[in-house]
Amino acid sequence: MKFFLDTADLNEIEEAASWGALAGVTTNPSLYAKIGGKLGDFHDHMKKICEIVGPDCPVSAESVAMTRDEIVADGLKLAEIAPNIVVKVPTMVEGLAATKELAKHEVPVNMTLCFSVPQALLAARAGARYISPFIGRFDDISDDGLAQVANIIDAINNYDFTDCTCKGEKVEIIAASIRSANHVTQCALMGADIATVPFGVLKKMVQHPLTDRGLESFMKDWEKVQNA
Ligand code: E4P
Repeated sequence: MKFFLDTADLNEIEEAASWGALAGVTTNPSLYAKIGGKLGDFHDHMKKICEIVGPDCPVSAESVAMTRDEIVADGLKLAEIAPNIVVKVPTMVEGLAATKELAKHEVPVNMTLCFSVPQALLAARAGARYISPFIGRFDDISDDGLAQVANIIDAINNYDFTDCTCKGEKVEIIAASIRSANHVTQCALMGADIATVPFGVLKKMVQHPLTDRGLESFMKDWEKVQNA
């Protein structure tokens, strides 16, 4: 499983990138608004993220256009920011049509706001390089987000979509809207290709109380060795 950071915060991205396990970044309009992002700075900000993580890490930048032609135009402009930009497109009719067109231009698309197996299958058939099913937002409405993602992974893995993606690559599932380290565990067990996690969850993924306790006792015992 690969880990993406779900944030537009440059400090968080720099810090997480320095930990050595970061494989990409996902952003969305809400995450950009959360850091006080301004419309005119959006492309520059995405460029900075691409520079921090380097060319091998995909960075999802979301189109806010609502018609296929506008999404394609927006996506082509976003793709010019850096070679590692992935255009994030909502799962809707106009988004599917735009994804097909962007794939023809060899622009990778991350289809977002995916909540069902039929949506995911259509996204893959339209040529999405990544599909982002959301977990936490299901839990928010008292549904089982993990069960929904499990179904999407099973359905997508039943088929070969490499003839649909822009460069013949495998479509990858990004488990999104992750709220806990347990979500990550469960997604890994069900074979999600990627988990995109907020920085707070990434920090929790490193921690375990038995690691802390073990480290404390090793340090105490090492003091005894030094004083022996
Ligand atoms: C996915 O790429 C989204 O940015 C994200 O995971 C949404 O998460 P949320 O439901 O916590 O807003």
